[in-house]
Amino acid sequence: MRFEGQAVNQTALDNVEHWRPQKTQLLTQLLIDAQRREDVVTGVLELGVYKGWFLSLLAGCVDGLDVPVIGVDAFIGNDGKKLTSKDQRETEGRIHEAIAAVTGKPSRATIMNARTDELNVDMLRSLAPLGLSFIGVDTAWPGSSTADRLVDLAIVSAMLSERGIALFNDLFAAHLPGSCEGFFTYFFRHPEADVVPFATVATGVLLCRRAAYDFYYATCVEILQRPEGDFSELSDAARHLAFHRSISWTPQLLGRAVVPFL
Ligand SMILES: C[S@@+](CC[C@H](N)C(=O)[O-])C[C@H]1O[C@@H](n2cnc3c(N)ncnc32)[C@H](O)[C@@H]1O
Repeated sequence: MRFEGQAVNQTALDNVEHWRPQKTQLLTQLLIDAQRREDVVTGVLELGVYKGWFLSLLAGCVDGLDVPVIGVDAFIGNDGKKLTSKDQRETEGRIHEAIAAVTGKPSRATIMNARTDELNVDMLRSLAPLGLSFIGVDTAWPGSSTADRLVDLAIVSAMLSERGIALFNDLFAAHLPGSCEGFFTYFFRHPEADVVPFATVATGVLLCRRAAYDFYYATCVEILQRPEGDFSELSDAARHLAFHRSISWTPQLLGRAVVPFL
């Protein structure tokens, strides 16, 4: 199996202010590439869009497929306060511009100006009736709370498609401890949840449905077992995987083996 990664306009993407590392981008491209080959792409959603870096990446990854691209943001500044209406409108315009620059086509994304606890899941279902095959969760932010992350994970549980993937950011972020608390609180309260981890990347964790776990775990291992040097961003992770195997040990999260993309 070959992993090509869906091409995006990298210069345009780099022009959007963001702070996620290159390996998060690359892994997202590789996983959506795997979904495209399996023909399971049904739509993408991001909770917490900011200036649109990750949503543009998602839009680029599903380019050419007739699937919904949805972003949700409450437009909160980094002082924890709501932006003025004018700043909200400008930010929304900039998100569409970023998507257009990255994909080379006018943006057809739906941007919802809402807090995630104001979201109506039925409305999301009407936009994405087949569920969402990739959900980015990135709402941890000054002013946000443990309870917000519970809401975000409930949306993931409700909207993730059968073969979908969710990237929950800031699980391991020292400056946003409530995000970690919210994550574990959700899974301790819902041990039966049909959402399980299969990999970690940077400060985040990748989740899928139980039935899709074997496929995505194996896909991540395969990504790391590509010939040496294919993706220099992933060489540390490949070394760790080889080392863990040499000592017959597997990193685990919530009782499942996960592939760490550190
Ligand atoms: C970390 S930034 C998102 C970064 C973005 N994903 C990117 O690729 O650059 C967090 C965003 O979440 C938004 N936000 C914070 N709390 C929220 C909530 N409860 N519901 C919706 N959006 C929220 C903020 O307005 C901010 O734009």
